[in-house]
Amino acid sequence: MNNLILIGMMGSGKSTIGKAIADKLGWKHLDTDKMIEDMQGMTIREIFDRYGESHFRSLEAKLVEQLKTVESTVISTGGGIILNHLNTMVLREMGLIVYLRALPKTLNANLEGHTKSRPLLDHQSIEVIYKVRDPLYRNSAELVIDMDLLSNQEIIDVILNYTKR
Ligand code: S3P
Repeated sequence: MNNLILIGMMGSGKSTIGKAIADKLGWKHLDTDKMIEDMQGMTIREIFDRYGESHFRSLEAKLVEQLKTVESTVISTGGGIILNHLNTMVLREMGLIVYLRALPKTLNANLEGHTKSRPLLDHQSIEVIYKVRDPLYRNSAELVIDMDLLSNQEIIDVILNYTKR
């Protein structure tokens, strides 16, 4: 199926870059966090605070199941989507998975002023989460983009060129 799925850490720019690529391709853009918030009528922060992370993860897995049939869509995912191997398997079937890889230093800079909406950062640092997740993202993705030295436009061009190969 012809979809593009962006994975990576919080603060890697999955939403911004996803939207720009979708506009460029004339495809639809979906953002799993935004969809969950809309469907629940609550923010991610409220879902975590009221029901806990495991409830959020099950909402995320249910949503991935529902997205199985989309086409010509760029999907920006929540940073933890690959924690569930089933999600990764489904997403692989749906299209090209791209890992937007950025170093903790870059991620922290991008997240400045945006950490309140990321409940995981209440108790864990980006550095620790990155150490655990970087191998998972790499295993899940077909294309890994080292973003630290690239502009958003360059990242978009790399992805678009790859899809044209
Ligand atoms: C999470 C990342 C968040 C959101 C939730 C959990 C994570 O999405 O899904 O707070 O586990 O890394 P973003 O990657 O869009 O910030």
